[in-house]
Amino acid sequence: MDAQSGFQIFRRLISYLVPYRSKIVLTIFTSVIVGALSTSPVPIIQKTFDDIFLHKDMFMLKVVPVLMIVMYLVKDSLRYIQSSIIQRIGWELVAKLREDMFQHLHRVPYTYFEGDTTGQLMSRLINDVNVMLLSITKLVKDLLQNGVMLIGLLFWVFYLKWDWAIISIVVFPLALGPISIISKKLRRLGRRGQEVLANINSAMLESFSGIKIVRAFGLEGNEQKKLREHNREFLEVTRKDIKYTEITSPFMELLGVSLGAVILWLGGTQVIEGEVSQGTFVAFVLGFFMMNDPVRLLFKTMTESQKALAAAERVFEVLDQKEEATEDGDVVLTRFESSIEYQSVFFKYPTREGMVLKDINLKVNKSDVIAIVGMSGAGKTTLVDLLFKFFRVTQGRILIDGTDINRITSESLRQHMALVTQETFLFNDTVWANIAMGDPAAGRDAILEAARAAHVDNFVQTLDDGYETVIGERGLKLSGGQRQRIAIARAVLRNAPILVLDEATSALDSESEKLVQDALNRLMEHRTTFVIAHRLSTIKNADRIIVMEHGEIVGEGTHEQLLSSCAQYQKYYEMQFAG
Ligand SMILES: Nc1ncnc2c1ncn2[C@@H]1O[C@H](COP(=O)(O)OP(=O)(O)O)[C@@H](O)[C@H]1O
Ligand SMILES: [Mg+2]
Repeated sequence: MDAQSGFQIFRRLISYLVPYRSKIVLTIFTSVIVGALSTSPVPIIQKTFDDIFLHKDMFMLKVVPVLMIVMYLVKDSLRYIQSSIIQRIGWELVAKLREDMFQHLHRVPYTYFEGDTTGQLMSRLINDVNVMLLSITKLVKDLLQNGVMLIGLLFWVFYLKWDWAIISIVVFPLALGPISIISKKLRRLGRRGQEVLANINSAMLESFSGIKIVRAFGLEGNEQKKLREHNREFLEVTRKDIKYTEITSPFMELLGVSLGAVILWLGGTQVIEGEVSQGTFVAFVLGFFMMNDPVRLLFKTMTESQKALAAAERVFEVLDQKEEATEDGDVVLTRFESSIEYQSVFFKYPTREGMVLKDINLKVNKSDVIAIVGMSGAGKTTLVDLLFKFFRVTQGRILIDGTDINRITSESLRQHMALVTQETFLFNDTVWANIAMGDPAAGRDAILEAARAAHVDNFVQTLDDGYETVIGERGLKLSGGQRQRIAIARAVLRNAPILVLDEATSALDSESEKLVQDALNRLMEHRTTFVIAHRLSTIKNADRIIVMEHGEIVGEGTHEQLLSSCAQYQKYYEMQFAG
């Protein structure tokens, strides 16, 4: 990352403040007052020495301290208001940006989720957004408050004694070199730090979501070790980060004090020789030492802002992901009328070498039930996933009613489809809500009917709160079969013309499977169905069976046809059902 793009990131960061411009202008205005008032001790000291002491002015000696208190009261109040405003803006932006990112992530192509782990993604939304916006608002605040004060002090020292002032500002160019080197290092460390933090997040999330397996296999030590390693790296990065961040202040102070010593000696000599008044001298030295604080803080802020840049880079990486819609089709599918057709479809996963689907040719007419069988890893799930446009075909095309699905909007396409997957996913909500998600517009009766059809009704009666029972995270309170039945009810409710059942009944016992199968059969009647199944009954009920092996279709026909003609099907049949 070079300086140029650092500047661009910075500009982009500042652009987040644009909607708050009136508040920012207000704080800039108050900064000027605060900054000016902060420098007031300098002229006051000069006047005290040169006028009040010299003329023994008792009246002014009473006025000045009162004046000082009043000025600082005004200054500190304004500063308080200003800091509050800026920090509020910071947190408001954090909340807003997090929402924007979340929304954006729901619009990027499905493939994006193959990259980051869930934990890493969460870290971007939580840690990076925090660091980026809180540092940038802090930066604005410090720049304003210290910048104006510094300018004010510079004015006074130049006003008091311009030749000494010139000596005192040589410190700036002198300090810039080392500080910019430190900045670069900090930016890299910041980036690494946020990455490691994301890994820590990811490791923890994984550990807790897999808690059952962790316990069962006694992997606690393993998990501990993983976390310890990430933690160690984090500490290492932090240690370096602290080393560089904290070096700026003492470095600047030492430079300042050295210069101060020179001025003391030089100025002191001139005072003794009567060339300069005592008041001017004391005021100058005070002004000079008062500059130390804002200078030190400004340089520190500069180095700390590198962390904001590093975090911002990670946030922008997400925001810059193209939305699915940018490559989406513009044809709106309003009705599914005749057929789905795979034409010479090849597919490879973006993250992996090698074709997972090879030369798939398949035509499915409306209301057909197609069973797909094959060993695990044959490509069955991949084949049906492509229908949803989760991934784009690598070669060939998939047509719905003659239209390439790439030309159809993802939204309208998916509206025509219902999916029950192998790993049933339930939200941490009530049973009722989990079913209702199938069709947000559905009424009470429709939901109940779907629940009955999928035989959710039977077991729901046994739950404490019936349909209002909240299914715990990962649906821990339910058995696998019960979970699947809820997922099926959701698909039933969706009432979509195209139904994809990917081992939807694998977790059911044969008793409940028979019951659910009834519902599924009824559901499949008027629908075009892709059913990936291991059960003979389901397969026999299909209009046609597709046999897959190593990403290819190696057989196609009815159960009887395949048994007599397809070697792979015979093998599969024997392994699955015979004996
Ligand atoms: N998200 C993915 N990224 C990379 N490879 C994958 C992904 N999902 C599945 N695969 C690979 O694609 C092949 C087919 O997988 P899949 O379609 O899930 O098979 P099936 O459903 O028949 O068991 C397997 O070799 C699997 O390892
Ligand atoms: Mg599968």
